[in-house]
Order: sequence, then C-alpha cells, then structure tokens
Amino acid sequence: MPQARVRAVRSVVLAVTDLETATRFFTEVWNLEPAASTADAAFFRGTGAFHHILSIHRAPRAGMIRVVFDAADRATVDALYAQVQAAGRPADGAPRALPWPGGGYGFGFKDPEQRNFAVVCDVADRKDIADRPDRPRKISHANLNCADNEATFAFMRDALGFRLSDHANNFRFLRCNADHHSMVIGFNKDATLNHVAFEMPDLDSVMRGIGRMRDHGYPVEWGPGRHGPGNNAFAYFCGPEELPLEYTSEMQLVTEDHVARTPDDWKWPPGRVDQWGIVAGPTARVKRAQSLFRFSDDGYRLGG
Ligand SMILES: [Fe+2]
Repeated sequence: MPQARVRAVRSVVLAVTDLETATRFFTEVWNLEPAASTADAAFFRGTGAFHHILSIHRAPRAGMIRVVFDAADRATVDALYAQVQAAGRPADGAPRALPWPGGGYGFGFKDPEQRNFAVVCDVADRKDIADRPDRPRKISHANLNCADNEATFAFMRDALGFRLSDHANNFRFLRCNADHHSMVIGFNKDATLNHVAFEMPDLDSVMRGIGRMRDHGYPVEWGPGRHGPGNNAFAYFCGPEELPLEYTSEMQLVTEDHVARTPDDWKWPPGRVDQWGIVAGPTARVKRAQSLFRFSDDGYRLGG
C-alpha cells in the first residue's frame, strides 16, 4: 500500500495568558479574521479555505500547544493513524468526529520529542477564498527546534509522509505539497518553538505588514529579507507575550522530482544571512523568543 501523507499544515494552536489582548492583536494588527470563539479560546481564519488557521487558548503560560495537519479524506486519516502507531507514537484515541469549531474527523498524537500534533479531514472549510491585500492566506510553515532532529525527521518522513526539500543553516526544510516547505526542524539543544510563519499574498503585503506592526509597537526583529532555502521573502516579529511570528510570501514551489540540497550548497558570504543583505541578522530579542516556548500539554486531548 502506498504511504499515506498529510497534505498541509492546517492550523497552529497557541497558549496565551491574556486571551483578550492576543485576540485584539491577531485581528486588528496581524490582520486575521475571527472564525469562532469560546470562553477560553479564539479561532482565526486567513483568506484561504481552511476553517481556521490559528487558535489561541487561555493558559497559565504562553507557548505552543499543537500543529494540526490536513489530510485528504477519512481513509487517509485512518492510514496515517496506522502509520503513527507503527512508529510507536502514542495517539489520544482512534480517529473520530472532533468537537472543535469547524468539526472534522481526526486524532491527536505526540511526536518523538513529545510535541502535540493532530491530523484531520472533513472540516467545514470556506468557499470565499479570494486574496485580500495585506491579509494572511494560511500558515506557511511552523519551524520547530529539536533536541533530536534525526528522530523527528524520521518520524515526519515515515509516519506523516514529509519529504526533505533542503538541509541548510542547521535546519531541515520539509514539504508535504508543492510549497518548498511547510515544516522546518532545527538542530538544537531543546524541543521548542522557533516560529510560526503566515503566508501573505505578495511582497507588498509583507512590507505593509511590517509598517502596521511598527505602528502598533511591534518593530520588525529581522527583515525584510529573502531566505535562501525556499526563496521566500520574510519579516520576523515578537508578538504578544513574545510569540515568535513571521510574515512571508513568494515561497518557491517544487515538484516531486525536486532534489534536496545540503549545507555545503548553502554557504553565505561573510556578513550575509539572506539573499538581499539590506538589514543585519535577527535581533537578540527575537533569537531569545525563538527558543522560549515548549510545547504545552494543555489541550492534548482533542476531545469527542
Ligand atoms: Fe520561517
């Protein structure tokens, strides 16, 4: 039987201590649209089809709770459940109807470094998906620091069907669709969140996003620039509670015959850490933010 594969990062789930302030930020500043809310959580959509691409949950500490992957259909979810079990990773139960906003069919599980993931299909997605200037479409990628990159890479490749697109700058860039990467996994000391990137419709929207963030007291902490692997334009920020966030656009699209490059293929000239070289590298503040947040067990069970 061919390997079952996830086909996108559908959403990320974050923990915040001040739900009201973070909700205002993600709507009025980050420019997402409210999708649903409960007493202790808020859900936001981009302009793409996914019912929501971000949810934030009231918790004692800020951090990362979960990455949710999209699958094509129930048979794929069931096959991914079998692959996760074959990899020896614990799930929170068999695939089932999920009670969260947008519904769907899926299951939650932990990866080899105890991160919470989920796979879902059959979510009540949107038909109104026209781009809007300056508004994120979707999650571009989640970047996760790893204490054991080899174990995490093997799991994401064998259990979830990710492919290696590039290996550079102490990161492996992994794809699950035509985007050069949807997940990035680092070579680090701890398993923490590096950052969450939101895809803007174009470079102009990234630049306008920088301006809007500055207007609200969130200066750009690295960028604007253009990365090597993925060739995407970027700007990094510390959001509310120091959450490390990225606006990005123009991600390289690849095909199945894409050949992964190696660290030797990605050497920067002295003083450079991106293709444009118009700003210095990341600030000390964002470097710190990119190692602060562990995955929380808040919300491990999907319920239902
Ligand atoms: Fe990124």
